[in-house]
Amino acid sequence: MSESAEKIYAAAAEQLRKSFAKPSRSNLDLIDRFARWGEDLINPISELYDAEMLVPQLIELMVARHKERDEKLQQRDRARILEPDWFQKPDCIGYVAYLDLFSKDLAGLNEKISYVKALGATYMHLLPILEPRPGNSDGGYAVKSYRALRADFGTMQDLRNTADKLHEAGISLTLDLVLNHVAFEHEWAQKAKAGDKKYRDYFYIYPDREIPDQFEQTLPEVFPDFAPGNFTWDDEVNGWVWTTFNAFQWDVNWSNPNVFAEYCDVIANLANHGVDCLRLDAIAFTWKRMGTNCQNLPEVHALTQALRTFSRILSPALIFKAEAIVGPAQVGAYLGEGERAGKVSDLAYHNSLMVQIWSAIAAGDTGLLELAMSRFQAIPNSTAWGTYLRCHDDIGWAIDDSDAHRVGLNGHEHRMFLADYYTGKFFGSDARGVDFQVEAHSGERRTSGSGASLAGIEAAIEDKDPDHLRLAINRFMIGYAMVFGFGGIPLLYMGDEIGLLNDHSYEADPSKAEDNRWIHRPAMPWKVADAAAAGKDPDSVATQIRRRVSSLISARKGLQSLHAGVATKVRAGHGQGVAIFERLHPAGNLIQVYNLSNQPRWVATDELSGLWGRVHEHVFDFDFELNDGFTLAPYESRWLTKN
Ligand code: GLC
Repeated sequence: MSESAEKIYAAAAEQLRKSFAKPSRSNLDLIDRFARWGEDLINPISELYDAEMLVPQLIELMVARHKERDEKLQQRDRARILEPDWFQKPDCIGYVAYLDLFSKDLAGLNEKISYVKALGATYMHLLPILEPRPGNSDGGYAVKSYRALRADFGTMQDLRNTADKLHEAGISLTLDLVLNHVAFEHEWAQKAKAGDKKYRDYFYIYPDREIPDQFEQTLPEVFPDFAPGNFTWDDEVNGWVWTTFNAFQWDVNWSNPNVFAEYCDVIANLANHGVDCLRLDAIAFTWKRMGTNCQNLPEVHALTQALRTFSRILSPALIFKAEAIVGPAQVGAYLGEGERAGKVSDLAYHNSLMVQIWSAIAAGDTGLLELAMSRFQAIPNSTAWGTYLRCHDDIGWAIDDSDAHRVGLNGHEHRMFLADYYTGKFFGSDARGVDFQVEAHSGERRTSGSGASLAGIEAAIEDKDPDHLRLAINRFMIGYAMVFGFGGIPLLYMGDEIGLLNDHSYEADPSKAEDNRWIHRPAMPWKVADAAAAGKDPDSVATQIRRRVSSLISARKGLQSLHAGVATKVRAGHGQGVAIFERLHPAGNLIQVYNLSNQPRWVATDELSGLWGRVHEHVFDFDFELNDGFTLAPYESRWLTKN
């Protein structure tokens, strides 16, 4: 620490001590945590803001929120300090859902916790539930208030109660923290509109096009179809407002220390309602600098470290998950590199793995997957990936040009191929996705669609061909097997456990119709889900998939070598289309083999890192004698350990 940081640290420690008349256990715990982590708070704050001014304000806030933190949550803090790797463990399984589509509201969720628990999930991400703007709210990502829930979901007190119920069932609660922007109906924006200078400075507002035009030269567009450009004229503030996403989502100005302090309070309030993990929505965009694409700037990591440390001291039960849908070279910084290693987010989405799984399936080839995975640096061993096959968003075909080039492909053509393949335009493809956001100059586009529809299950059902259906289900399940086998929290997207297909009903809702991501956001058909959970109608698609998801979950829970503290090494097997995941762990090496092609493939024993003789397959649960090798049927996989 610099000399001035030392001084601020000492003053803050003193301020903290003086804030408590009696040295209760929980007060002493807070003081100890500040002693342990205060440096990680003050350093990044000194990089970004006037720390001498801001830190005392934050300590005051911390004390106030600490006093409000209830005993149950303080107990949870202690438990998590004793088990800091809770989210890295093989038994940590994620489930992601829109509350309204899953259970209507929180009261409904309380009734459905048993479903989540029976599935084996231990981590539940409720997509945005805070009060959104009315009408189109980008699925709740345009937040009107961070201090209330969407009115029909329940109250903040209901949230606290549901968190308790989830905790009792062994399930952690994740919520979104949308921190790049607020809805223009948010109080801060309203005050800015009313002419309040303090709140005008919460946003980026320019009187004319001069500065916006300069920024635009290097800014990409996120939603070119329905929200072109990055700035929107607003009559009330009489200026151009920075709006990276939709016109109704105003980017907040993180270079303003008041904004930082506001979000510390928002985080504390959510933590005190029992939230265990915050998904930092669109975190990559939170810092702006002229001449850059205003994504992944170093200050983003400084401010994440500061927020993370603030909440770590106040509420150590809470962790952060970075939603940074960025390339291999940039994503590592979200888990911490250099002096920030292990000090920023605890979790980050593994977007590349998701894209590479779909890409390998379409191409029937794993060379690019292996190369792209080799691009990843080691991540801090206290962090983990969130792995996924589908989520509520579209798939952007993030194939790196130079990676493609090195395996003899052209990046642009491969991205076009994937978009064609997954919308069924490519000859022989049975995928049923739809185009999302076409880039005018290149023709490149992203893809929406449910996992099952992308994997060909929808087409196979229409075909009424049992062989086709079997193949499509296997294709879908091999994707999930890789997601569950990689290490880190596998995030099961609601409905994928029963293979839900595309749902076109959003087209009739004017607040959703123009955004086809709603095609893969269906409501939960409870009759089907409950029947599948009970194993009824064993030949139905839903029951078959549910059974196979359950096998993956129970296999995973029993394998210590899937702890996220150890990294997966990805190798492409010699047989085209075969991928091998090696997890070398003192608890026993786990070798996973995947055939991502639609042809049978031979896997030779000498590719299996010394595995031979009697081996056990964990997902399908059988033993066999490994001699020279074995054949994998199309889309078949094996998770093997020495018996
Ligand atoms: C994230 C969300 C996405 C939303 C965007 C803007 O990327 O996942 O659904 O549109 O942020 O908040």
